[in-house]
Amino acid sequence: MLFPDYRPRRLRQNEAFRRMIRETEISVNDLILPLFAINGKGVKNPIPSMPGQYQLSTDNLIKTAQKAFDLGIPAIMLFGIPDKKDPLGTSAYAKNGIAQKATSALKNKIPDLIVITDVCLCQYTDHGHCGIVKNNIIDNDESLDLLALTALSHAKAGADMVAPSDMMDGRVAEIRNILDENSFSNIPIMSYSAKYCSAYYGPFREAADSAPKFGDRRTYQMDPANAIEAIREVTMDIEEGADIIMIKPALPYLDIICRIRDEIDLPVAAYNVSGEYAMIKAADKMGWIDGKRVMMETLTSIKRAGADMILTYFAIEAAKELNGH
Ligand code: PBG
Ligand code: ZN
Repeated sequence: MLFPDYRPRRLRQNEAFRRMIRETEISVNDLILPLFAINGKGVKNPIPSMPGQYQLSTDNLIKTAQKAFDLGIPAIMLFGIPDKKDPLGTSAYAKNGIAQKATSALKNKIPDLIVITDVCLCQYTDHGHCGIVKNNIIDNDESLDLLALTALSHAKAGADMVAPSDMMDGRVAEIRNILDENSFSNIPIMSYSAKYCSAYYGPFREAADSAPKFGDRRTYQMDPANAIEAIREVTMDIEEGADIIMIKPALPYLDIICRIRDEIDLPVAAYNVSGEYAMIKAADKMGWIDGKRVMMETLTSIKRAGADMILTYFAIEAAKELNGH
């Protein structure tokens, strides 16, 4: 049908028509809020490059998590910021590590809020890499045991789901294995399957104090130029036992989200990362864009591309918008 028989504007003429033909809608159910846990009491350190985001001690962490829960957000993604770092990232898998303490406190106070824990070593190692360093190389197989121990310690602390973000080969199988051996076969794994080596992580590394002290993450995170390789990574993780697969970052990789959604029959998550958040906040502050509208348009685009859930620092703001206040 062509103009003038067909006039697409007929169904755009008022909001009621637009609502009736709307194809994509975000809901609070799709949102996961990342939070940063730090030791201490009454701590709420603003993260300069991420306005509205903070390093929070457990008491304040619970307040923010409660706010998210009350808005209908089903889950948070927890990152720990330890007091001490060492070459083996010991505090990542310590029984009384920051992530473990924060997890049990959260589960104790808000039992129905899903706590997903980020499983990685980079915040906990003094060199800032996501695995163990040997002769200046990130040793894949040596790192697997420690990542598995980290995941297990999170499960023991009460985490509902673990999310390995290290990008070592074979870590999903190793984590599935140790969880199953320790009666945690009911704990799902959300794998950061296609995690690109991205400059969009800049603000996060400031927030989590996790920048590598030498070199970069190119030997383990994916080359931004590759799409077919993402399918291979995702397929491997599924064979190893992943329950949810994640694409990260989100906005510069919408094509990857779309392809993975078409080819894969597991739930797909997308991580709207720190740099994506910072850019919108900065342009809004300058008065160059309408931050709220760009936020909603961005989240909608990620959902439209095929993500079933979105990890985003905008979760609380977006939930308020969706709830109409
Ligand atoms: C660490 C980790 C990173 C992010 C989540 N987990 C950063 C990195 O790989 O350096 C990035 C999150 C964000 O930018 O919001 N493995
Ligand atoms: Zn890491």
